[in-house]
Amino acid sequence: MGKHLAICGGEPVRTAEFPRWPIFGKPEEEALLRVLHSGKWGRLDGNEVEAFERRFAEYHNVRYAVAVVNGTVSLRIALLAAGIQAGDEVIVPPYTFLATASCVLEANATPIFVDLEPDTYNIDPAAIERAITPRTRAIIPVHLAGLPADMDAIMAIARRHNLIVIEDAAHAHGAEYKGRRVGSIGHAASFSFQSSKNLCSGEGGIILTGDERLYDRCKSMHNCGRVPGGAWYEHHVICGNYRLSEFQGALLNAQFDRFDEQAKHREEMGRYLHQRLAKVPGVTPQNRDRYPVRHGYHLFVFRYEASVYGVPRSAFIKALAAEGVPAAEGYVIPLHKQRLFVDKAFGPYTACLQARPDLDFGKLSLPVCDRASAGEGAWLYQALLLGSKADMDDIARAFEKIYEHRDELSEASRQSRVL
Ligand SMILES: Cc1ncc(COP(=O)(O)O)c(C=O)c1O
Repeated sequence: MGKHLAICGGEPVRTAEFPRWPIFGKPEEEALLRVLHSGKWGRLDGNEVEAFERRFAEYHNVRYAVAVVNGTVSLRIALLAAGIQAGDEVIVPPYTFLATASCVLEANATPIFVDLEPDTYNIDPAAIERAITPRTRAIIPVHLAGLPADMDAIMAIARRHNLIVIEDAAHAHGAEYKGRRVGSIGHAASFSFQSSKNLCSGEGGIILTGDERLYDRCKSMHNCGRVPGGAWYEHHVICGNYRLSEFQGALLNAQFDRFDEQAKHREEMGRYLHQRLAKVPGVTPQNRDRYPVRHGYHLFVFRYEASVYGVPRSAFIKALAAEGVPAAEGYVIPLHKQRLFVDKAFGPYTACLQARPDLDFGKLSLPVCDRASAGEGAWLYQALLLGSKADMDDIARAFEKIYEHRDELSEASRQSRVL
C-alpha cells in the first residue's frame, strides 16, 4: 500500500486502463457491411431487426418484441399501447434517468414519484401502495443498475388495484429475479441499446410483452399506426415512425452473440467485488441479498458514508480516479428536483397540470432518494466488471487505500489543496 494517496502526490494503485466499451471486432464489421451491400437498410426491407427481436424475446422468455429507436420511445409507446391517457397517474421512482418519468408526461398522464428502498435504491413497494389513488393506472419500476426491483410485491399490488406494470429494464438486460428474467414479469418491459448500455447499437430500444393485444398496438404504433394487411398509406392510431434500422439490427445481432458470456462475467466479477467492498468501512454495495437475483450490473452502485471519511462524495470520487479507478456520483439531481418538474415545464403536455394542480414536485420529500442524490449514492460503470479478478482486486485496493489514508484525504480537503 503506497505511503500517500495518489491525489496527494503518491503512487496510484494502478495506471493500466480498464476494458473499453463497446467491445467489437470482425463480426460487427461483417454484419454492417452485409447490410450495406444488401441495399436493405430499413427494417421493412431486410430481416436483421426481426431476427434480433426474436432472439432477444426468446432470451428473456417473452413471446413478443418490438424494436424501436431508443429506450425513451419504447417506454412511451408501451404506455400509449396500454391505453394510458389524460388524467391517469403512473407511479415511478425518482432515482433514474429522465425518460422513466418524462414518458408519462408524453403520454399526457401524471407521474407520481415515490421513494426507494434504502439498501437497493429500487422503488419501495410500500411507498407504491401508499401513493395509489383512484386515478392510478400503472407502475414503472426501474431495475436500478441491473438489480431487479421486488417484482412479486409490485405485481401483487398491481393485481389488487388492477394496474399495468411496465418494467423499465434499460439497465437490466439478462438480469434475473428469483430465477425469472426481468422483462418477462410485468405486462410489458422496455430496454435501451444506447451506447453505454450492456447491449448496445449506439441508439436503440425494445419493448417486450407476452400480451398479444399490447404487442399488436406497439407494433402498429412504432410503424406510423399501420396494421397488418392495411395499405401503406393507411394509419389507424396516433404515433410515428420509430423503426430501428437494419444497421442497428445487424450490430445488435453481432453484439448479442457476445452478450451472455459478458453478462455472466459481470455477474461473477460484480459478486466478487461486492464481497471485497462490503468489508471497507463507509462503503456499502447495493444489497443483492433480499431475494435471489442475477444482477445485470449495468452499474455497480454503492452507498458512501461521508462521516467515515470526513470528505464529501465528490472528493472520494476524485481520490478514486487518482488511484486509477474511474467512478461517478450518479444521479445527483433526483427527477422531482429537476427544473423540468419544479417549473412544470411540460410544454404541450398539460393534462397533468389540469388533473393534479396540487402537485408541487419541488416540495416533495423523498428522503432516501434525496440522500442518495445529495451525497450517498455512487457508481462504477459496467465495463470495469469486464476486467479480470486482478482488476477487481485493484479496485478493492484503491478503496482500502483511501480508507486507510482517510485522514490524509480529509486534511487535504480541509486545506483545499487538491479537492
Ligand atoms: C433507467 C433508464 N430508462 C430509460 C432510458 C432511456 O433510454 P434511451 O437513452 O435509449 O432513450 C435510460 C437510458 O439512459 C435509462 O437509464
